[in-house]
Amino acid sequence: MITERKLPAGLITKICNARHAVFFTGAGISKASGVPTFRDGADGTWNRLNWRLYATLDGFKNNREEVWKWYELRRLSIHAASPNDGHLGIANFEKLLPKVTVITQNVDDLHERAGSQSVIHLHGSLFSHRCAACAHPHTMNVTSPEGQIVASTPQPRCTRCGGWIRPGVVWFGEGLPEADFANAVAAVNDCDLFFSIGTSLDVHPAANLAFMAAKRPICVVQVNPQETALNDQATFTLKEKAEKALPAILQAISEGSQHV
Ligand code: OAD
Repeated sequence: MITERKLPAGLITKICNARHAVFFTGAGISKASGVPTFRDGADGTWNRLNWRLYATLDGFKNNREEVWKWYELRRLSIHAASPNDGHLGIANFEKLLPKVTVITQNVDDLHERAGSQSVIHLHGSLFSHRCAACAHPHTMNVTSPEGQIVASTPQPRCTRCGGWIRPGVVWFGEGLPEADFANAVAAVNDCDLFFSIGTSLDVHPAANLAFMAAKRPICVVQVNPQETALNDQATFTLKEKAEKALPAILQAISEGSQHV
């Protein structure tokens, strides 16, 4: 377990002096909430399932009902999950620093539910839907007679053109939402503190943001129990779980520990 004493020298001072912190997050931050990662161990989603079938437009077209049901199950399981100490820790930084921006690759809403105010979703959201044919937005509000959110099956059709509704996530081969990516790039270029947390940095162009940050003369902190390509470039690397490292950092700050 990480303790205040194990935090690298100088880290807390850098954090306390920051004007704008960016937290760039991936699936690892939601793992302690019960949401599986993609490439991490046997339960990693893409180590169990073929991403070509579940995360491409062709996969959706060829196996539409099964793909729809899978995303509906994910939507419901995330609805039932709660933010963990990693998400809550990031939200708490807003009380300490002048400006905080969260840039996430995650399609869950756990940062928002933890209280983060400024969250950019680079890979879309399991909670937004649109028509696969005409892109008309679709609101999902199917509930049981008891008021519980339930899976929307059969798959809904677009009220405008009759096309099939698809999840509002970015699939392989699709572009990132342009305005969101532009806002993310602007935040990376403006920040003076950048955290890369719980991401393998294997998926581009999102991962480029971390390497862009590392080229700037700012403090870059990586939090990940495993090594990534950022290890050699980060100012500080905490080989730790997000839900342990973020509370430890906040604890050190609250104790005013200038020795760390
Ligand atoms: P990956 O599954 O590729 O990487 C998860 C990372 O989290 C790994 O580097 C783990 O070591 C790390 N990790 C595991 N547990 C952790 C913990 N408790 N605290 C901190 N880190 C931990 O997930 P991403 O990098 O997010 O795309 O994957 C990028 C994209 O690939 C995803 O956004 C997704 C997927 O295809 C879409 O959904 C469109």
